Amino acid sequence: MKSILLASAAIVAGTAASAQTVGFSQIGSESGWRAAETTLTRQQAEERGIDLRFSDAQQRQENQISAIRSFVAQGVDAILLAPVVATGWDSVLEEAAEAEIPVVLLDRLVDSSDELYLTAVGSDLVHEGEVAGQWLVDNKPEGECRVVELQGTTGSSPAIDRATGFRNAIEGNADIEIVRSQTGDFTRSGGKEVMESFLQAESGNDICALYAHNDDMALGAIQAITEAGMDPGGDILIVSIDAVPDIFQAMANGDANATVELTPNMAGPAFDALEAYWADGTEPEKFIQTESRLYTQADDPLAEYEARKDLGY
Ligand code: AHR
Repeated sequence: MKSILLASAAIVAGTAASAQTVGFSQIGSESGWRAAETTLTRQQAEERGIDLRFSDAQQRQENQISAIRSFVAQGVDAILLAPVVATGWDSVLEEAAEAEIPVVLLDRLVDSSDELYLTAVGSDLVHEGEVAGQWLVDNKPEGECRVVELQGTTGSSPAIDRATGFRNAIEGNADIEIVRSQTGDFTRSGGKEVMESFLQAESGNDICALYAHNDDMALGAIQAITEAGMDPGGDILIVSIDAVPDIFQAMANGDANATVELTPNMAGPAFDALEAYWADGTEPEKFIQTESRLYTQADDPLAEYEARKDLGY
């Protein structure tokens, strides 16, 4: 498969100056982070004179598979794929490789052979969960700490890896126990609904902290906690992932405690890799890692909100 892609790069090398066409199969618009990734991908394409063909899968893998087949039929020069789940991609990725179209994965991984895609751009998702878990280890109140977890989309690589990372970090802390864990599908409404059910099921029992696999679910949960007459960020500590503008506002209000940043600019490194590949067949690393960092209430959340609020979230 690698040789097919290399042959393709050699053919394209002679035409690198002409406008390239890239198909982008996006998952949907489940979160503020996802909206920002879409906005930045469109901006990056425009700045580079790339003709971007966008397809919104509305959270369904079958829609992504159809979109990729359609991009292959159109003969695009490359495909960007943000895969909703990790499994089930082999056949369609083989079809793209047979058509000599390089595929770049954005923000999530697949369990297919890495020979079936050119590169993947994303963060270390296990590390993100570890950073969130370590924050809780360092900041939990004295004594027993019962944690509820809002997981991302079932079967997606961030849901799997962020769950693993958090457990790695709290392992060996006998005081910390995850008492409930359920998917909120990375959405604000899902986070609110599942948090309501956690609060109902745990009524009378202390919940010390919420770990949410993204900020949108945390924001939905904050609403549920407030409506239940409790103090989010105080009675229940809240740590999540993404660093969207609204979570900084919640942090400024004292309603959220910490977030781990995931940059929405996956397209920049992806297009850099593609442009080098188109130009002379340069093979990028199989994984291009973006930076992640922890923000807490001590990091001037209002300034962080201001810095991000117009970036397409
Ligand atoms: O794959 C990245 C995750 O997908 C983001 O953390 C989440 O907000 C989005 O839905």
